[in-house]
Amino acid sequence: MRDFFQEQLEALRARSLDRHLREISSAQGPEIEIGDRRLINFSSNDYLGLANDPRLREAAIAAIGELGVGAGASRLISGTQSPHLRLERALAKWKGTEAALCFNSGYAAALGTIPALVSKSDVVLLDKLCHASLIDGAKLSGAILRVFPHNHLGRLESHLEWARRGHPGKSILIVTESVFSMDGDRAPLRELVEFKKRFGALLMLDEAHAVGVIGTNGRGFAAAEKLNEDVDVQLGTLSKALGASGGYICGARNLIEWLINRARSFIYSTAPAPGIAAAALAAVEFLASSEGEERRLLLWKRIRLMQELLPSSGLNKKGTANSAIFPWIVGDEQAALYLASALQNEGFLVPAIRYPTVAKGSARLRITVTASHEEDQIRSLCEAIQRMTKHE
Ligand SMILES: Cc1ncc(COP(=O)(O)O)c(C=O)c1O
Repeated sequence: MRDFFQEQLEALRARSLDRHLREISSAQGPEIEIGDRRLINFSSNDYLGLANDPRLREAAIAAIGELGVGAGASRLISGTQSPHLRLERALAKWKGTEAALCFNSGYAAALGTIPALVSKSDVVLLDKLCHASLIDGAKLSGAILRVFPHNHLGRLESHLEWARRGHPGKSILIVTESVFSMDGDRAPLRELVEFKKRFGALLMLDEAHAVGVIGTNGRGFAAAEKLNEDVDVQLGTLSKALGASGGYICGARNLIEWLINRARSFIYSTAPAPGIAAAALAAVEFLASSEGEERRLLLWKRIRLMQELLPSSGLNKKGTANSAIFPWIVGDEQAALYLASALQNEGFLVPAIRYPTVAKGSARLRITVTASHEEDQIRSLCEAIQRMTKHE
């Protein structure tokens, strides 16, 4: 009998949809080592270059020295240690919300939070380009799920009318992202807030790619738009611009109390390691400082340089850059793999993103720029892309 997995894997390979791990033997940074090669890294979400920052490393080491490595139990049993509570207080203060709660990852935060907010016969309205963690959380909740086309306010409005008419008295949750992870564009947040108020819905915003990047001191899109009070649930991750690991929810104190009681991925999982919580706390403190703000402004200098230098032909570049994410949409999966490998031969790591992370036939190279890139590194990537798009 043929091996079931082998057949499935062959089917993936035939469609250029197979995925493989690559071993990085260096710390994260603008240059990384793969095998015996050093590549300039345009694939990371470490937007501010904090993943290997001495402040975070020292904070983690000090916490490990004092508290050991593992948290030993879930938060509600005996796993809540000082760094967890200090991190949550710092997050709430930085984000300008009443309270915050940490999870083991952004994925776990989504998976635990959405089912704690809505259940069977409630309604979730989700942007088509939302991250897998939000889709999975929505599915897990058992609520009625309606997807609206990306940033399409007209369709969202008609879904809201339908939900209010057909499901009176039920909760309606609108879920979207500040910055869309594979496209780099932003949600129309003001209009979404207006809708949520008009229809008495809840609004959940995933700030994963906005914190550290958007708003004074990197407080994110809701804060930048002065809509903190109007976004009911702010989700974020400690593992991208904050350089550490873990996820969080920020919002009203009652929301956080409710999640402590109902979010299963929080309740039934060992607390984050104290060293990692301490490193995340150091990152939040850095972001809130004037030095942190300088680093964020440096990131925007790099983003603007990338925007200026990227050739427009073949790249879906419109208007001014909204984030540190630049998608080069090529469509065909095989073509995306080919371009990623051609760039790798020239010394750049830029990942090919394919189905199911993005829709079939919308494969792309996802270029991310960070504050730790040198101008010359950005220039040489753009020159390489220029050469490739000329030959297309
Ligand atoms: C938009 C978005 N939300 C949530 C997550 C999950 O965060 P984490 O990597 O901390 O699990 C990610 C990252 O993968 C993301 O891109």
